[in-house]
Amino acid sequence: MDFTGRKILVTGGAGFLGSNLCHALAGLGARVTALDGFLFGGGANPANLDGADVELVRADIREIDLRNLCEGVDVIYNLAAQTSHMGGQRDPLADIDINAVAQVRLIQAAREAAPNAIVVHASTRQFYGRPHYLPVDEEHPVNPPDANGVSKFAGEQYWMIEHRTAGRPVVSLRLTNCYGPRLRIRDARQTFLGIWMRLALEGKPFEVWGGDQLRDMTYVDDVTAAFLAAAAPSCHGRVFNIGGPPPASLLEIAGMLARIVPGTRFITREFPADRATIDIGSYHANDGAFREATGWAPLVGLEEGIARSLEWYKTRLALYL
Ligand SMILES: NC(=O)c1ccc[n+]([C@@H]2O[C@H](COP(=O)([O-])OP(=O)(O)OC[C@H]3O[C@@H](n4cnc5c(N)ncnc54)[C@H](O)[C@@H]3O)[C@@H](O)[C@H]2O)c1
Repeated sequence: MDFTGRKILVTGGAGFLGSNLCHALAGLGARVTALDGFLFGGGANPANLDGADVELVRADIREIDLRNLCEGVDVIYNLAAQTSHMGGQRDPLADIDINAVAQVRLIQAAREAAPNAIVVHASTRQFYGRPHYLPVDEEHPVNPPDANGVSKFAGEQYWMIEHRTAGRPVVSLRLTNCYGPRLRIRDARQTFLGIWMRLALEGKPFEVWGGDQLRDMTYVDDVTAAFLAAAAPSCHGRVFNIGGPPPASLLEIAGMLARIVPGTRFITREFPADRATIDIGSYHANDGAFREATGWAPLVGLEEGIARSLEWYKTRLALYL
């Protein structure tokens, strides 16, 4: 799709993936509005939109009049979400308010104000639960391990119903763990790799829980490329898994960090009891359907992506702590 001059709304646009997408869209000549409520504990950071020609609306999708925001929009990239698994367990009502109820608000507003807009929805591999087989394709049973998995699945399904009943072009991308510049690295709320990178840069040891679990981490530039490609007609009305380069175990990933930052130390320990119940074990995606529909493929290998991320944070660490 040619994004030049297109009017785009990115919900969750000050967060990790949303802000990277905003930078890319603005660079392609789109007129971009980022909506973000800067939710406590999420990935929103004012520094994320530094240097991007993007209009930022600071508001909560549960409250703001979404019709005004949707007016005349060509594409809605819908990334706003409560993303914390432990947060969803602690406060499932807030979780479902954002990830499901507010999605229905947005659907209704878009029906009135942007009936033809393409919607690309950020979904998650989380609701497959502990995989029955690897790699996980889109036919894998849905078995959410936690409240966040339930609410994210509900949100995705409301959007897919909108495609089936109203004919709206909707695409849902079920993302795996993503990482890269603008990730929240202050703590472990946004993937383990965030806090690992912070501690490695600070010369402090980090913890590896378990260690044998496989992950197919996607570098953020590849995620952004997937979002851009997903607007194509070949994707409309479909859900797709998005994976990354070949999977690596947590211990292998820790080893990569240690190679990139000499002197890095880590210790392995058992998965904490309060998290073990919602742990999904190993995961990696079969994303062949998306590759076939779009020609997309992840271009950034894991070790290279970690090195690029660390380089990016070196000069900006204070903004992310
Ligand atoms: N990062 C990953 O590894 C990953 C994996 C799977 C799925 N996803 C999905 O991708 C999307 C983006 O994730 P992310 O990693 O960038 O997270 P993030 O926390 O960095 O971004 C989400 C943004 O949404 C905003 N937000 C949350 N609730 C809001 C509300 N009520 N009103 C307005 N804004 C609100 C937050 O402030 C935040 O900036 C989410 O939908 C998430 O479920 C991400």
